[in-house]
Amino acid sequence: MKKLENIYLIGLMGVGKTTIGKQLAKALQRPFYDSDKVIEDSMGVDIPTIFSYEGEEGFRLREQAVIQQLTALPGIVMATGGGSVIKAENREALKASGFVVYLHCSIDKILYRTRHDTQRPLLRTDNPRQRLQSLLVAREPLYMACADFKIDSGSLPGKTVVKTILQQY
Ligand code: S3P
Repeated sequence: MKKLENIYLIGLMGVGKTTIGKQLAKALQRPFYDSDKVIEDSMGVDIPTIFSYEGEEGFRLREQAVIQQLTALPGIVMATGGGSVIKAENREALKASGFVVYLHCSIDKILYRTRHDTQRPLLRTDNPRQRLQSLLVAREPLYMACADFKIDSGSLPGKTVVKTILQQY
């Protein structure tokens, strides 16, 4: 274990980055950050509001600023927004400063977990399955380019996912 290295969780919406990230932080007694929450707290509005006023690109610029800020901190655990890997600057900052864990699970599981969600603008579509499938196709290579470790967070119990990540770390 590289004691002071950060841990970053990447992956599509609804794969469990925040849940697993909080458990990892607790196990390691490290500060936990959720990049989406840091953006919301700093602006005082939620993600859908940011998307509606500034568009996705406005949100991505804010996300980039937060990723750059948080990756400069030592010894943290961070859950990133699912699209944080789109920008090359973010992929580089994540890779350079931490152990990057790619959480993945089936689209069915993501659809089930997000079925009552109102906070993810990209899922506000007539066909969320198709949206998730195309996001996965576009992003899988980006997640893989960043990841030090990939793990299925859909079929394993959370405890096992956390334990396995800690063994790899
Ligand atoms: C997004 C994922 C969301 C949030 C925003 C955009 C994406 O974060 O950053 O709605 O592009 O996949 P979660 O992955 O935490 O849901």
